[in-house]
Amino acid sequence: VEAPDLAGRHVVVSAGGTREPLDPVRYLGNRSSGKQGYALARTAAARGARVTLVEANTGMPDPAGVDVVHVGTAVQLREAVLKAAADADAVVMAAAVADFRPATYAEGKIKKKDGVEAPVVTLVRNPDILAEISADRARPGQVIVGFAAETDDVLANGRDKLRRKGCDLLVVNEVGENRTFGAEVNEAVVLSADGGETPVPHGPKEALADTVWDLVVPRLA
Ligand code: C5P
Repeated sequence: VEAPDLAGRHVVVSAGGTREPLDPVRYLGNRSSGKQGYALARTAAARGARVTLVEANTGMPDPAGVDVVHVGTAVQLREAVLKAAADADAVVMAAAVADFRPATYAEGKIKKKDGVEAPVVTLVRNPDILAEISADRARPGQVIVGFAAETDDVLANGRDKLRRKGCDLLVVNEVGENRTFGAEVNEAVVLSADGGETPVPHGPKEALADTVWDLVVPRLA
């Protein structure tokens, strides 16, 4: 049993993957299961924190003892995270947020038309929530953690992303076929803005979650 080292703290965790609608029945989505975010929420609650979980499309039941906000799109996730982060001691962005959304939403289902080529979908950028909350901290000393899924040059790309996003910690996962997405286990390296590098061996997502909180606690204001 972990010491209640997050007692009296409010932490915000985002989990799942956003869906960006094209029409009433279709969306652009991703393969994030939300399991890592849920593990982060459960372990933080077990360590005494008040937890706000911003959940996007996981289909999983709300964890006991956690405040859950349900969202669908990146824009909705941003609103919910900014609101919850206002009085948070730490924010962990485990959600897979779509980098782009369709530029327009069709009120009616997009249909095949005789003699018309396949439609072209124009995308626009979504806000980068992690970069935004890191650049403009709701509280001095707020600890912000990001996740990065990389397929190659994992550490170099991770270092670069940590700097670009401006967060305090970045959990870097190697992804690919049959790795990480939807799995019960994870293997990662946690990079810190002060140059630290903490490898987390292949193991349950709870173990990685506890390592993240172990690294967050000493950085809390
Ligand atoms: O840039 P990339 O998508 O690889 O960054 C991943 C990290 O940034 C994750 O922590 C994710 O939650 C966050 N993110 C975000 N807003 C976006 C895209 C990613 O907060 N639009």
